[in-house]
Amino acid sequence: MNYTKKELLTKGGFQLINYLPSIGIEKVREEIIAGLKTIPKYIASKFFYDEKGSELFEKITQLNEYYPTRTEKKILSTIVSRLNVDFTNINIVDIGSGDPTKIRLLFSQLSEQVVSTIIYYPVDISQSAIEKAAEKLILEFPMLKIKGIVADFIFQLKLLPKTKNRLFCFFGSTVGNLSATEIEFFMNMLGNEMQQGDNFLLGIDMIKDVAVLENAYNDEQQITAQFNKNILKVVNNLSGTNFNPNEFEHLAFFNAEKNSIEMHLKALKNVAIIFDSSTDKVYLKKGETIHTENSHKFNFNKIKTIGLWAGLDIEKVFADDNRWFNVVHYKKNK
Ligand SMILES: C[S@@+](CC[C@H](N)C(=O)[O-])C[C@H]1O[C@@H](n2cnc3c(N)ncnc32)[C@H](O)[C@@H]1O
Repeated sequence: MNYTKKELLTKGGFQLINYLPSIGIEKVREEIIAGLKTIPKYIASKFFYDEKGSELFEKITQLNEYYPTRTEKKILSTIVSRLNVDFTNINIVDIGSGDPTKIRLLFSQLSEQVVSTIIYYPVDISQSAIEKAAEKLILEFPMLKIKGIVADFIFQLKLLPKTKNRLFCFFGSTVGNLSATEIEFFMNMLGNEMQQGDNFLLGIDMIKDVAVLENAYNDEQQITAQFNKNILKVVNNLSGTNFNPNEFEHLAFFNAEKNSIEMHLKALKNVAIIFDSSTDKVYLKKGETIHTENSHKFNFNKIKTIGLWAGLDIEKVFADDNRWFNVVHYKKNK
């Protein structure tokens, strides 16, 4: 997560721009400290994704217990001919792009000639994730033009390319990682950014059996636990705190009232946290938790509401046989 060095890179068909420095490390520190001083304490889930965090998330997506990725991929692997979208000269803006295994499924259903007309904009807070994704995509689709954008999609959505004929993608049910108010705020902003004729593909995880949900975030190999604890190392690097991840335990459970899997880190002993920039301290009592992630689950009414917040119409909903996951095609018609 590079909040300090403005990176402008051009390598063959790949360009990269980093907008994070215009947020600035001071604002990031303030955001982290404010979350740790709130009751109950929280750390925003975007801070999972340093290089190690992005790698761990990729491992999670390959776990048996983690059904969302393979289910969404199955839907995406046959979607192109069923979508009423012309991909020639399209600009694909992939928000929270992560690894490229989903977007490559779209490209692989198109002819080389069509792919050569596309500009792909991966947008992510993790620069390493964009660079690794671009390397893999260029090997498989050498004719593809890629313009990577390192940015925070909550604070910097306005910086997305203003070109015409855009397909926005937001896969992985990342929308569910936002708080209830952030989802409305984000969809409002996205709706304002989208122009008439633009398309939006949203990957969204549905409410289902609690055992299936809780199992997905409590894997046997404890990769999710490593991913959760890694956030403390990221926070140490960004704000000079002295968290010891070994003093915390991974917790993930379904909150039925909020239809959300919540991930927390529970203190195994009393802990005092210092920040490098002040004499201020934050105390955690043994058993107290830091809320690190929401993973909201949705139903069809919520899918409609999400579209309304952005002024979008639903074109089509694609689901797997179990209806565990949906990919929703929305369009901005006016
Ligand atoms: C749940 S993962 C999904 C990744 C990928 N789209 C997929 O479907 O597998 C969320 C992705 O969004 C990125 N991300 C999280 N919060 C972000 C933010 N505020 N701004 C930009 N990217 C963010 C993470 O780095 C990560 O790659």
